[in-house]
Amino acid sequence: METVKRIAFGTDHAAIEIRENVKNYLKDLGYEVIDFGFCGNGNCDYPDYALKVAKSVANNEVYKGVLICGTGIGMSIAANKVKGVIAAVCWDEDTARLAARHNCANIVCLGSRTATVSQVCHRIKIFLETPFKERHSRRIEKIKQIEKMESCTC
Ligand code: RB5
Repeated sequence: METVKRIAFGTDHAAIEIRENVKNYLKDLGYEVIDFGFCGNGNCDYPDYALKVAKSVANNEVYKGVLICGTGIGMSIAANKVKGVIAAVCWDEDTARLAARHNCANIVCLGSRTATVSQVCHRIKIFLETPFKERHSRRIEKIKQIEKMESCTC
């Protein structure tokens, strides 16, 4: 029996209008969506939701993470502060594919103000369905080594 893959999902207020569409799309693809917010009204701060999703991914509670803000940039900057996370802003289908295949990214970050909802959904699908290519492992190991450094004096 195939187990259902869980996806950690978070947005800020910039994605309020598309977040339910994206969640439903993920559910239709067969994923279980763990929604970490933002589910309120008004404005919020994207690092709060980036941190929740990033922790869930880093703790291996989910298969991968999806973060959406206005551009994807703030979410990726915040999520990448958490050890074990490789969060990538994907601005088209190719970058969504390559973030998974070459960079072993475990969180995809997207912009609600820089893409249509269908573009966002399609990029997420590509990202989630593209396997990592082992020939890129050496570079990913080097990223892990950087994480282990207490402070970088370069
Ligand atoms: C919020 O207005 C906006 O700054 C945020 O959604 C995001 O685009 C930051 O990177």
